[in-house]
Amino acid sequence: MPIRPRRLRQNPYLRQTLQGVSLSVRDFILPVFLIEGQNQKRAIASLPGVYQMSPDVAIKWLSERATEGFLAYLLFGVIDSSKKDDTGSEALNADNVVCTFLRLACERQLPMLGITDLCFCEYTSHGQCGILSADQSTVKNDETVARLVTQAINHCHAGAGMIAPSGMMDGTVGALRAGLDAAGFDQIPILSYAVKYASAFYGPFREAAQSAPAFGDRKSYQMNPAASIDEAIREATLDVAQGADLVMVKPAGAYLDVIARVRQAVQVPLVAYQVSGEYAMLESASQAGWIDHDRAVLESLWGIKRAGASLIISYYGEILVKLLGK
Ligand code: PBG
Repeated sequence: MPIRPRRLRQNPYLRQTLQGVSLSVRDFILPVFLIEGQNQKRAIASLPGVYQMSPDVAIKWLSERATEGFLAYLLFGVIDSSKKDDTGSEALNADNVVCTFLRLACERQLPMLGITDLCFCEYTSHGQCGILSADQSTVKNDETVARLVTQAINHCHAGAGMIAPSGMMDGTVGALRAGLDAAGFDQIPILSYAVKYASAFYGPFREAAQSAPAFGDRKSYQMNPAASIDEAIREATLDVAQGADLVMVKPAGAYLDVIARVRQAVQVPLVAYQVSGEYAMLESASQAGWIDHDRAVLESLWGIKRAGASLIISYYGEILVKLLGK
């Protein structure tokens, strides 16, 4: 038997040198849930190990991550429900918690790229991602897009280094590019949540961001999880044509085929979002003793990288430093 693939698996050093997929802290974008106030740090029951933090606490946490080599973070604003209204007007307040954080990060010279999630679901009383139609049956596309442009410009004035529209409204990227260019932000890249599914895996996030829809669902704007791959490619291609500098596929774990195919279809870097439910599944199964935590986490991330992601958004923050050293 001359051909024995197992020959390459006998020596541990050889196994390691031949490892084709590698991960480093540089591959990760760390999500941050910002709450108002000072010295606030709140646990999120369905995301053990992840916290809502006030800007001062978040700066301190991210500074530690920066010393570990992490380069980028993604901001979500979480506001008091008393400030929510049906248009999500707090999202457009230039002094809201996201803008406050960005200014503080500039002042403290936090050595990382600050990306902001652009959406209204954390700010609307109904929890939908934009302005509702009169009969409340759907989100109005163009009115929502116009407000996203204002939100993005505010974030850029406050110091955002990249913006990430997550609402799945048609034409968002083109409108943002034109709006940002006109406001003098032609060098700020757009990371488009181009391929975003109406997924059950966002459950814990909605607790973390206090953004669950009060009624209905997001199926009229987010994609059908069982949609054909053509729809994913169409969304990604459209966003690149409108000027997206990077595209995202979200969630990651159940959509590795989508990551691989979109990767081939567009030439811009692809970002995959390992979402809250993916994290919660890994954490809960390992807490129960049903899977080996560290090995399962690494395996989930290797899969995403191997499928073709250039960058991964993941709730695995500081623990990665330990895991990647293994
Ligand atoms: C929308 C947004 C969501 C997530 C990121 N941005 C929630 C949604 O679309 O319902 C989910 C991320 C996660 O589950 O980790 N602002």
